[in-house]
Parts: sequence; C-alpha cells; structure tokens
Amino acid sequence: MSLKGREVVLGVTGGIAVYKSVELVSRLVKAGANVHVIMTKNATEFVTPLTFETMSRNPVVVDTFARPDKWEVEHIALAHRAEIFVIAPATANVMAKMAVGIADDMLTTTVLATKAPILLAPAMNTGMWTAAATKANTATLASRGVHFVGPAGGRLACGDVGAGRMSEPKEILSAIDALLNPLQDFAGLKVMVTAGATRERLDPVRYLTNDSSGKMGFALAEAAAKRGAEVTLVCGAVTAHAPDGIPMVRVESTQDLYDAVTRRAPQMDVVIQAAAPADYRFEQTWPQKLKKADGEPLTLTLVENPDIAAAVGEMKHPGQILVGFAAETQHLLENAQKKLVKKHLDLIVANDVSQPGAGFNVDTNIATLITSGGAVAYPLRTKRQLADDILDTVTKLREEQKI
Ligand code: PMT
Repeated sequence: MSLKGREVVLGVTGGIAVYKSVELVSRLVKAGANVHVIMTKNATEFVTPLTFETMSRNPVVVDTFARPDKWEVEHIALAHRAEIFVIAPATANVMAKMAVGIADDMLTTTVLATKAPILLAPAMNTGMWTAAATKANTATLASRGVHFVGPAGGRLACGDVGAGRMSEPKEILSAIDALLNPLQDFAGLKVMVTAGATRERLDPVRYLTNDSSGKMGFALAEAAAKRGAEVTLVCGAVTAHAPDGIPMVRVESTQDLYDAVTRRAPQMDVVIQAAAPADYRFEQTWPQKLKKADGEPLTLTLVENPDIAAAVGEMKHPGQILVGFAAETQHLLENAQKKLVKKHLDLIVANDVSQPGAGFNVDTNIATLITSGGAVAYPLRTKRQLADDILDTVTKLREEQKI
C-alpha cells in the first residue's frame, strides 16, 4: 500500500479509543502520508497533542478559541488541503453535530468546510450506537456520501458487550487506502445498472408503482465508475440524487425498461439489475382522467409485464456476468435461488425488504449474495458498502470463469 505524499486530515474526538488513533497515525506515516491531526478538547484529556505531533511530525491543531484569527485561516487551509478527512474515533456527539451542520469547534468547522471524502470510524457505547438518534444521524451522513468503517462488536471499555468498538487501525488504514486508491478492476469494462421503480399508467394522473428510491442502483453505478467501469445507468422513477457524471437513460414503464435494457445488453460485460420493475400493468388505460362511477365498484384488470432479467438471461453471451436482485418478504433464500436459476443469473442479491434497515428507500441494506458456488450473508451496511461487496463478487466470478 502506498499513500506517498497523500494529504490526510485526522480528526480525533474524545473517547478511550484515542490510543488506537496514535497507532493509526504511525501506520499512515509509514505508508507515506502527510498527516494533520485536529484534536477536540475532550480528546486531549486522553492523549496529549505532543504524542500526535511526535507521531505525525506536524503541528497538532487543538480546539481552542484562544486565537480566533489563526483558527479561521487554519480550518479553511486544512479543509482545502485534505485529500481525505478521517475522524477516528468518531463519537456519537461529533456525528450528531455533523448531521445537522453544527460548526462550534475547530474539528466540526473544518469538516463542514471540506470537499474531501469523509471517513468516520465510530466508537461509542452499544446503547449509544443503537440509539434511534445515532441511527438517524448515521443514515443522514451516509446519504450525503460520508463513508464508515466499523464499528466492530465485542467487549467495550465500559464493560458492555456489543457493537461500538472502534475498528482496528489496520482496517481503518485499508478503508483510507480504498478511498484514496480505488481498485481499478473494472477498467475497460462496460457495465449497465438499472435503478428505481417503473410506473404503469392508468390515466394521465394515476399509476401503479413501488417504493424504490434508486439508492441501491445509484450506489452500484457510482462504485463501478470509481473502479474504472464505463457505466450506463437505466433509471425509472427515483427520489434519490443520481451520481454525477454517469450517463443516464430515463424510462417510465416496465416495457420502456425492457426496451432500453435489452437493446443495450449485448454490448455489456456486466449487467446489474437493481431496479424494481412493476410485474403487472393495466390491461386498459385511459387517455383522460378516469371519472368516478358514483358508488359503482371499479374493476381493473392487470396483465403481466415482460421479465427483463429473464430476457437478458436468454440472450446472455459468453464472458458476460449477469447480476439480479431478489426483493422478498418471506422464504428469502429459497425464492432468490429460484430466480437465480430461472433468469440465468450469475449472482443474485437477496434482500428481505421487510427487515428494518433493508430494502426500499433506506441508505442501508442487509443482503445475501448467492451464486452457484454458495451463499454469503452481508449484515447491515450502507448501500455504497454493499455495492463494493457485490462488485468484489463480480470480479471473483470473472476470475473463476477466466473472463
Ligand atoms: O431503490 P432502493 O430504494 O434503494 O431499493 C432497493 C431495492 C429494494 C429496489 C433493491 O435492493 C432490489 O431488491 N431490487 C429488485 C426489486 C425487484 O423487482 O425484485 P424482484 O424479486 O421482484 O425481481 C427479481 C429480479 O428481476 C430483479 O433483478 C428485477 O430487477 C428483475 N425483474 C423483475 C420484474 C420484471 N418484470 N423484470 C425484471 O427484470
């Protein structure tokens, strides 16, 4: 791993895990990074600034309002200088401040001003980590593109057992490396990703749809582009913010999605179908708003839509990898396994969309990745993290199939 000459700003907040941050600085310096440490006042209660100064060989900025002029200049300078902004340990308090944009000290002011990718290594008591407020703040930060490493589970300093331990310095270093030097294992590959919901019109003002926000598909498109792929995003109705710089084909109905995907699929090395197409459409549609029939029941007939993934599976060419999703509320693995086979997929991402933190319109997911070789469960993580896990599996499949 080389971080030679890379500018890393490390925010250190007050928690017993601070001692691990000293080791993190040592590892970063050994990897060649130029490390600038900002400590909160509470952090200095655990370790002195001199320790970090000695390890980083740079002055340490501590939260003090004693020299406001210098402070103002310094926080902007560090915000600009950072190629990555890491906060380790990140307390529940600093995450809460970041979620609402509070900038009341050197660290929170600098992190608010930075345009660099932000990586948080949370460390706190299990109760604090699982508290509704922390969960909401984590989701808010993840939705803005903040990256997370950990927390890990185990025995905490307070004696409790559970999630909340800061990740080990080695893991934090790997996460920093992955963000600064993203893998280029998709360079030269054409990847098509579908995202969002389709809409089946009944009349000009009504339609049949579902809750897909596009978040899962967008995370995949962004991750594949970061890893060097030429990405085409085919996108139905979405509420999430689309990743910048990725060409997007907009569609409305399942038939539109079918047309857009089947036309492009033959040129693709990898097709990932995270969209949630409506399985049915109205048999009859109305060109004008359908009027109420004064108390009479209205019976609408639905007819089946084409199955896009199955059609792409039928036309699959050698050397192509097909990934589908299975959104289930019961018999997750059984149903997903059936779809894997029926749609000629190489990989299916099974998500139980009835679980909190998984499925539609949330920033996290819980999934089992199923291939012909077996199933691997991925516990709760951000959709962006899961996107990388899915792409790692695609790379493995390509290697196994000697593509
Ligand atoms: O967009 P988000 O809010 O982030 O939500 C993410 C998600 C829940 C939509 C995503 O994680 C997910 O599960 N997507 C698949 C939804 C779905 O349609 O699942 P399914 O089990 O009904 O379909 C199985 C596979 O066949 C999917 O890859 C689907 O894209 C595809 N399909 C389904 C119906 C159809 N007519 N044609 C298809 O190609």
